[in-house]
Amino acid sequence: MNRSDIGGDGPPVTARRLRGVAVVGLGYWGPNWVRNLQASGVCDRIVACDLDAARRRHVERLYPGVRTFSSIDPILADPEIEAVIIATPVHTHWELGRRCLGADKSLLVEKPLASSVKQCAELIEMAAARGLVLMVGHTFEYSASVIKLCEIVNAGELGEIFYISSIRTNLGLLQQDINVVWDLAPHDISIILAILGRAPESVNCQGRSHYNPGIEDVAMLTMSFSGNVIAFVHVSWLDPNKIRRITVVGSRKMLIYDDIAYQEPIRIYDKGVSVLPYYDTFGEFRFTYRYGDILAPRVAEAEPLKAETEHFIDCVLNKRRPRSDGLSGLRVVSVLEGADASLRRDGALVPVKYAVAK
Ligand SMILES: NC(=O)c1ccc[n+]([C@@H]2O[C@H](COP(=O)([O-])OP(=O)(O)OC[C@H]3O[C@@H](n4cnc5c(N)ncnc54)[C@H](O)[C@@H]3O)[C@@H](O)[C@H]2O)c1
Repeated sequence: MNRSDIGGDGPPVTARRLRGVAVVGLGYWGPNWVRNLQASGVCDRIVACDLDAARRRHVERLYPGVRTFSSIDPILADPEIEAVIIATPVHTHWELGRRCLGADKSLLVEKPLASSVKQCAELIEMAAARGLVLMVGHTFEYSASVIKLCEIVNAGELGEIFYISSIRTNLGLLQQDINVVWDLAPHDISIILAILGRAPESVNCQGRSHYNPGIEDVAMLTMSFSGNVIAFVHVSWLDPNKIRRITVVGSRKMLIYDDIAYQEPIRIYDKGVSVLPYYDTFGEFRFTYRYGDILAPRVAEAEPLKAETEHFIDCVLNKRRPRSDGLSGLRVVSVLEGADASLRRDGALVPVKYAVAK
């Protein structure tokens, strides 16, 4: 992926309104979509669905204008529903997604796009064949901090990137059907791929499960990129501290992005290492360390999901390719699939492969 692959930016065009949009899955995350769709002010009708009656009642109480259903069927049969957002557990994404595309609905699927590269490729091909928008919920790609971080890296301010290190830990929420890598690491992987503008060549991952056998609750994933660049991602549901921090180390400067530091989420450190020739002994080198200023650029933070909602609506109304399109979802799932294969072999190096051409 390079920067020019990322399309769909620009102000949302709201001359036309969305006739109808549906949110499928009203658990922890889905209601946030309903709230943002309503706040956008350009959706004539918002409907929603969940298998669980208590979740349907919860959303109807919060949003009296939103009608809810116990199944996706009436949504698929309604020609006025132009787009569907899937916020259900990961193992349901592919089946629900292909049913939506089959019913000619544009589609946003929460991260990760599906449970395998093969499933992602099928959704991408279906959407392309039918001229429908397919977007994946890589929310952090819509965060003002991450956009700023990418701008800083692309402007060359940090110099040549050496490595990226990411930590996403907290206590809970243990999942029953996916491990901590599939649950938390899609965020870090999508951010790192956006920063570097390319996908990794290989991945290796170690982890352990302490509560649900076979479902790792702590893991360390490593991605190797061309150009001697490496990225580490530490994810855990069993950590006393909530940490969401990414460190980018370059040849000129270093940067820390702390998603929990609301005041100054990005700090650029003018620190680094200089290599000087060491004249006493020919061919040896001496290192000097630079400790310069720390700069916190202003980031006008808004809710990333608001920007993501507006972008999705814009893409549907104007048939634009989303910034986080199906291919971007597939790239992240390729890494997750590779990580699973590596976990089963206690951290062996696994090449990252793609089922469709870039
Ligand atoms: N982008 C983000 O920052 C972010 C944050 C949290 C979760 N997520 C993603 O959102 C998705 C949902 O996560 P969650 O934490 O809300 O899960 P959850 O378990 O809290 O909620 C899922 C809901 O889906 C419903 N459901 C399951 N199968 C269904 C079906 N076939 N039809 C209709 N409803 C169905 C369940 O009853 C449940 O209420 C996951 O893909 C997750 O990775 C994304």
